[in-house]
Amino acid sequence: MDGRESAVGPSAEQLLGTAAVARRPVGSGESQRASRAWWDADADDYLTEHGADIGDVDFVWCPEGLREADAHLLGDPADLAGRRVLEVGCGSAPCTRWLATQGARPVGLDLSGGMLRHADRINAATGVVVPLVQAGAERLPFADGTFDLACSAFGAVPFVAEPERVMREVARVLRPGGRWVFAVNHPMRWMFSDDPGPDGLTVTQSYFDRTPYVEIDAAGVPTYVEHHRTLGDRIRDVVAAGLVLDDLVEPEWPEGRETVWGQWSPLRGALFPGTAIFVCRRP
Ligand SMILES: C[S@@+](CC[C@H](N)C(=O)[O-])C[C@H]1O[C@@H](n2cnc3c(N)ncnc32)[C@H](O)[C@@H]1O
Repeated sequence: MDGRESAVGPSAEQLLGTAAVARRPVGSGESQRASRAWWDADADDYLTEHGADIGDVDFVWCPEGLREADAHLLGDPADLAGRRVLEVGCGSAPCTRWLATQGARPVGLDLSGGMLRHADRINAATGVVVPLVQAGAERLPFADGTFDLACSAFGAVPFVAEPERVMREVARVLRPGGRWVFAVNHPMRWMFSDDPGPDGLTVTQSYFDRTPYVEIDAAGVPTYVEHHRTLGDRIRDVVAAGLVLDDLVEPEWPEGRETVWGQWSPLRGALFPGTAIFVCRRP
């Protein structure tokens, strides 16, 4: 779910001239510009690394392998038919496509043209063609009450400077009674380096330090940004948007699952959570 690995060819870091890591405040516009450039540059590598894990027509919530087909976080699968669903940060859109195969009427939204090009390619290859929209999650280009459901599997929320705006926007485009389910890195992961091995078991920074993780080029321009919120911050963002939090799911690492996926691994998964899934509702 994170795109920090490189495959064959120049990596996103090389393409963007990433020169250093800086820890400093980054605003909304600067974050969005960095994310768009990063995900455009990293799209090919991301799909090479994770294409098999996420699939083409499949709804996998997180590296723990939890599938919507089993978890039913969006409700009873029998009720998905006809539902208007927004996926925020859809990437190559496997989840959006899976929703379409359940009879839903989904739209995939993403900031990155590079990721959406893969979505377009996989639409054509699978024949499961879903509508795609290029936009930032902090300003959704939809009318109030457009959707019955909204979802996000590590799309957008960890990368925006003002996640409270995403919560407000999703609340706005949902109809009353609509559900919003989003998965993000579990906030406690912030304390550790993104290392799936033993080095990723040692606390290296404060859980309470909200200073973003920023990579910059030689001119100091951000090339990659990740923002941290504590669990309490995330809940406050949800509640302040007028949403109700129905559940907070912390998927456990399944016994026997050997996958190493970015910073997620059996070693770390056996000890502490890697993913937090917020199940919210517009009253
Ligand atoms: C880790 S990928 C997850 C994609 C997909 N859900 C998956 O599981 O493969 C994060 C996605 O969020 C998108 N994204 C990042 N910032 C965004 C923003 N501000 N608005 C919309 N999408 C954003 C990226 O372009 C990328 O496709």
